[in-house]
Order: sequence, then structure tokens, then C-alpha cells
Amino acid sequence: MNDPSQNRRLSLNVPNGSSNSGGGGSGNATGSGRTKIALKPGYGLMGWIRFQSNAKNLTNIIQSSGSNDPHLNMITITELSKHDQPDDCWIAIRGKVFNITAYLDYHPGGQDELMKAAGKNATNMFEDVHGWVNYENLLEKCFIGRLVGHDF
Ligand code: HEM
Repeated sequence: MNDPSQNRRLSLNVPNGSSNSGGGGSGNATGSGRTKIALKPGYGLMGWIRFQSNAKNLTNIIQSSGSNDPHLNMITITELSKHDQPDDCWIAIRGKVFNITAYLDYHPGGQDELMKAAGKNATNMFEDVHGWVNYENLLEKCFIGRLVGHDF
């Protein structure tokens, strides 16, 4: 069983931007070798932290389990797949389902990149790019429930 208290990790694991950049190719203005996505003003990491801390709940769901405890929501892969649009976007990572609609504009890798994972179990995609990102803290108020059959 997963212990909800493990969501309470304190660090955000914010990257320092000087890590490995994956093989040259696309140069950019910073010379870091990474292609930086231009986010709208105010939509950086601090903008998201402020926005999320002011929000009560970003899941936009009516509790389906009959309980007010979001930890009890069990989401099927079929239900997950219905939420694959920019205005209604769910994603599963390591067995947890999040409504990331509000986060799309804040994703440092860009909205288009994140939309590739819309409505999907995105665990592998996530691990491939940045498995070290502390998504549980970043998406705390977006947490909907558990993906059925994926108990990590
Ligand atoms: C919903 C959970 C996710 C969160 C909280 C998240 C968060 C982040 C963060 C914090 C960064 C900046 C990393 C850095 O500066 O090194 C980033 C970059 C990025 N993300 Fe995500 N991400 C998520 C999901 C995904 C998924 C599913 C994909 C792929 C489909 C993805 C693709 C990328 C890419 C390509 C970058 C740019 C990497 C780079 O600059 O080297 N992300 N994301």
C-alpha cells in the first residue's frame, strides 16, 4: 500500500540547468545545448508554486467513490483516456492520476510536449526525460486518485 504521507516530501528537486543536455544538435541563446521553451510571463516555476498554493483543489472532479477522500478514487485506463484534451487533461505517473489541465501552461518542457502524454499512463515518458522531477509535490493539488492495476 502507498502511504499518503510520502507525498509530503519537502524538496522540489528544482534542476540547476547545467546538467547533461543530451547531445548537441539544437543550439540556443543560452549556449547550454538545450532548447528552452518560452513560457508566458508569470508561468515559470515560481508562478506555478504561487498559483497552486492559492488553489484549493485543481482536480475538477466530483468524487466518484462516494467519499471525500481523493486517495480512494480508483481510475481505470479507459476513464483516463477520455481526458486527453488541453481543457481536460489527465495523466498517470507511477500509478497516480493527476488532472494537469492547469499545469500545461507552466510545464518547462512546453505544453505540446506534455500533451503527448495526455490521457495516458505516462510513466515511461516521464522517466525517460526527467524521472528525478518531484511531480508529487508539483502536482499536489492536481491529484485525483490511483490508476487501477498499477499499484506502485
Ligand atoms: C505531469 C508531470 C510533469 C512534470 C511535473 C514535469 C515537470 C518538468 C520540469 C520541472 C521540467 C524542467 C526540467 C529541467 O529544467 O531540466 C520539465 C522539462 C521537460 N519535460 Fe516535463 N514534466 C512532466 C511531464 C512530462 C512528460 C510526460 C513529458 C514527455 C512527454 C515531459 C517532457 C519534458 C521535456 C521534453 C522537458 C525539457 C527537458 C529539457 O529541457 O532538457 N514532461 N518538465
